Amino acid sequence: MAISTSPAPGHLAAAAASLPASHQHDFSEAQIAAEAACLHERLQHVGWGMLECEMIAPLTLEINKLKAETGSVVLAHSYQTPDIIYGIADHVGDSLALSQAAAKTEAGTIVFCGVRFMAETAKILSPSKKVLLPAPNAGCSLSESITAADVRALKAQHPGAPVVCYVNTSAEVKAECDACCTSANALAVVEAMEGPKVLFVPDKYMAANLRPLSSKEIISWDGDCMVHREFRGPEVRAFRRQYPDAALLAHTECLPEVVAESDMAGSTSGMETYIQQHPERRRFMLITECGMTDKLKAQFPERDFVGTCVLCPHMKRVELRKVLQAMTEPVPEQEIELAPETIARARKAIDAMLSIGRAERVK
Ligand code: 13P
Ligand code: SF4
Repeated sequence: MAISTSPAPGHLAAAAASLPASHQHDFSEAQIAAEAACLHERLQHVGWGMLECEMIAPLTLEINKLKAETGSVVLAHSYQTPDIIYGIADHVGDSLALSQAAAKTEAGTIVFCGVRFMAETAKILSPSKKVLLPAPNAGCSLSESITAADVRALKAQHPGAPVVCYVNTSAEVKAECDACCTSANALAVVEAMEGPKVLFVPDKYMAANLRPLSSKEIISWDGDCMVHREFRGPEVRAFRRQYPDAALLAHTECLPEVVAESDMAGSTSGMETYIQQHPERRRFMLITECGMTDKLKAQFPERDFVGTCVLCPHMKRVELRKVLQAMTEPVPEQEIELAPETIARARKAIDAMLSIGRAERVK
């Protein structure tokens, strides 16, 4: 298992502090101290000291001021670093929650702290809005595993079978599909399809995890998540032996052998809900990306989080200073542009998902 840990707070604060001169602030010492204290309340639970919070405070103050001045909203996935989640985000959640927020927001500009497929989904749902992706090279191994031409070829091999695509796909792939889904409603979307056979792309492990629960024959693609494929059954069993009282919560992008070991398998929001609904459980092991553990450590400081995690290099490309730069002087690659025809076709697949909403598989 190639295990890594979250970026150290000092590293993030230092990166944030090295701002270009054009972004120097004019906040008073009192404003910075108040912002740092507010940040520290949450971030202390993931190892940030007051000094580090003071280093990033001018930046979060500046971004929050710009949000108000420009009518922007910041959407952040739960895998983002805690300075983004607790410092600047207006909505934090899983892919489904962020899609729902993008569809509903009245803000003129959406700043997406996440990866490209998520920002594209926001653009499809709010085509008249400006959608900014601060880290334009934040991709996804799942999204990159399949093209629109691949989907067309698969459909030709299985004429008439509906296609469900995981939200971790490009807009062009979504445009070829009948319905989209997230980890929070994959089973319900698959079951809602007509006929006995469903093409499910691109996550082969999510497809394998769905098969025992589904009434459909599921044909899958050869994609996987570079983070969740790293967790293996023997290592997870070893952690279980080490922490027998810990509840093990796994993402459904994990291998079936890992899901089989878990107490709950589902989306990142499903993990959060499980913790909220099980006050009797004091200790948790999250089998997912490192950011989720940090987010929950800050949210539930009285609980204990053990085990290990894997970093998603794409999610970690977003940094506070890139958010500020994208909001003030975006380069073309930071603004999401999609062909109107792609938007119209992909929208149908996303609307099919949103009409089902949250329907979490609970193990
Ligand atoms: P959810 O947060 O929707 O469960 O997805 C996890 C993920 O891998 C996003 O990239
Ligand atoms: Fe893609 Fe996996 Fe990273 Fe999520 S964690 S963005 S699925 S590579």
